[in-house]
Amino acid sequence: MSEALRAVQPADMPEENTSEFAADVVGGLSGQPKRLSSKYFYDERGSLLFERICSLPEYYPTRTEVALLRTHAAEIACFMGSDALLVEFGAGALVKVDLILDAIAKPRAYVPVDISGDYLYARAARLLDRHPGLSVWPVVGDFTLPIKLPGSGRYRRAGFFPGSTIGNLEPPQAAGFLRNAAELLRGGGLLVGVDLVKDSVVLHAAYNDSAGVTEAFNKNLLVRANRELGANFHLPDFRHHAFYDPTHRRIEMHLVAGRSHTVSVMGRRIVFTEGETIHTENSYKYTVQGFVELAREAGCIVRRTWCDPQNLFSLHWLEC
Ligand code: AVI
Repeated sequence: MSEALRAVQPADMPEENTSEFAADVVGGLSGQPKRLSSKYFYDERGSLLFERICSLPEYYPTRTEVALLRTHAAEIACFMGSDALLVEFGAGALVKVDLILDAIAKPRAYVPVDISGDYLYARAARLLDRHPGLSVWPVVGDFTLPIKLPGSGRYRRAGFFPGSTIGNLEPPQAAGFLRNAAELLRGGGLLVGVDLVKDSVVLHAAYNDSAGVTEAFNKNLLVRANRELGANFHLPDFRHHAFYDPTHRRIEMHLVAGRSHTVSVMGRRIVFTEGETIHTENSYKYTVQGFVELAREAGCIVRRTWCDPQNLFSLHWLEC
């Protein structure tokens, strides 16, 4: 491994493994209502499907956030500082971090943190091709838990959490993430991408695309359980259901059983009644004021907010 690409895997951060997946699937499908965690969407196929979602015409968040980053890159770079350690929580679209890296004059190093080691290293190598001379120090770990960073604490730290991934956390978990991030980035700051509350027709279309990619992404949880756990989900027995709940200000994704039947998972019989759902994801939408309050509760101050002209999406610079 080259000096530029330094592997870091703190001992207290377990990699996601099949037995954890097995326990979560069996546990989640044995309760009422049935649930599967959205963190399991992102195996190799799921990550590719998510990349396709990001370029769908109905899925406005990615292109709107990229446009915001492009427009405000210079100002964002001033907040981040020129010699900062750039820490990205989750390894997302390269185009986003490219924009930040190009705008920061001389980042000390880029530290992507992600649970999926293979994906993280492949992505880090691609990033090195695009930014020769950059130091990349990947950290394999769950960024919703406290993490340790490589290198001494000498450098100013700038965090980056794009894509409204914060919206996939329940609000108390989101506040917990911000509290941990503030601790880690003390003296620096954090740039967060947050999807905004808007017309429910726009939201509905974004999670019910006409090409059926979001449906395939949702059903990939069943494909993954069949492959990794020897389950026997029959995909046509389930349909994708995504809707906006204005009370909780969130999109809910479900898989709905079209008929009463039984599925076997790890030797367990899981009984579905007709119309019963598996709740697979929440995607919370915030108002700017609501997000500022969440950040304040977590001990962070929002110094600057950028929104697109249609108020679809927001970026926030938090001082930690
Ligand atoms: C990754 N996350 C912010 C996406 C979202 O919009 O909640 C995941 C997604 N689910 C369906 N489409 C996209």
